[in-house]
Amino acid sequence: MEATISKNQQKKLKKRELWQLKRQEKKKKKIRKPKPKTLFRLNREEWDRRKAGNVKVIIDCEFNELLTEREKTSLKQQIMFSYAENKKSENPVDLKLTGVDDSMEQEIKNLSSGNWAIDICKQNYIDLYEKEKLVYLTADATEEVDEFEKDKFYIIGGLVDHNRLKRITIDKANSQGIKSAKLPLGRFKDTKIDWSRVLAVNHVFQLVLKYVEFQDWPTAIECSLPPRKKQKTEEEAEENKNEEAKTT
Ligand SMILES: C[S@@+](CC[C@H](N)C(=O)[O-])C[C@H]1O[C@@H](n2cnc3c(N)ncnc32)[C@H](O)[C@@H]1O
Repeated sequence: MEATISKNQQKKLKKRELWQLKRQEKKKKKIRKPKPKTLFRLNREEWDRRKAGNVKVIIDCEFNELLTEREKTSLKQQIMFSYAENKKSENPVDLKLTGVDDSMEQEIKNLSSGNWAIDICKQNYIDLYEKEKLVYLTADATEEVDEFEKDKFYIIGGLVDHNRLKRITIDKANSQGIKSAKLPLGRFKDTKIDWSRVLAVNHVFQLVLKYVEFQDWPTAIECSLPPRKKQKTEEEAEENKNEEAKTT
């Protein structure tokens, strides 16, 4: 006996066929871009050599237990972004994670696809390096960074706290008796950007990386600026201009 299908079912079938056709066409159109041949991929030994002689950056993961599960996930993503940027760089910095607990270590390793080029230390930086060589980067510092020195270790707080844990890094640096410094963002106020904001771990890392590459703060800032923030501030600038036009 011939099976009959309702009009509704016929419509659904047609829709499905159309959708499958479109999907196949899309797949055909999709051209796989070849990954750019970075120094890391071309000559890992040379990349390692450059990294070893360059500025040292530590992401301090000792705060992990103060973060919520969501914040922990964001932090891991920010670490992975930083790691990926460093891998792409011709002038990589020596990136280390310190104070990493077992579960975080495992989760970070799971996220990376082998070829691991980052040191993960369970120990804390204070037990690993001389105090004189350590500089804690924190927006609450009074001093500003002038330039990054190759023999110093610059520490970034492993925090995604939406400013919940106010002054936690400056207090830590002070209690450990180590230097602290903020990024010299205030000097570049004319860049339309509200730089009083505390930056995310990956943006701070990117700024260090780009400064090391270009040796120029405005360029480093421009390259590391979060696009969302840039767009917002540009819209705000446009609005301000309109307001000014109305009042003058
Ligand atoms: C999201 S912030 C964490 C803010 C946290 N409440 C604190 O007290 O540091 C992540 C880290 O990026 C670094 N950082 C953010 N903005 C900075 C700035 N303007 N200057 C220097 N370091 C900064 C700090 O190391 C900071 O711990």
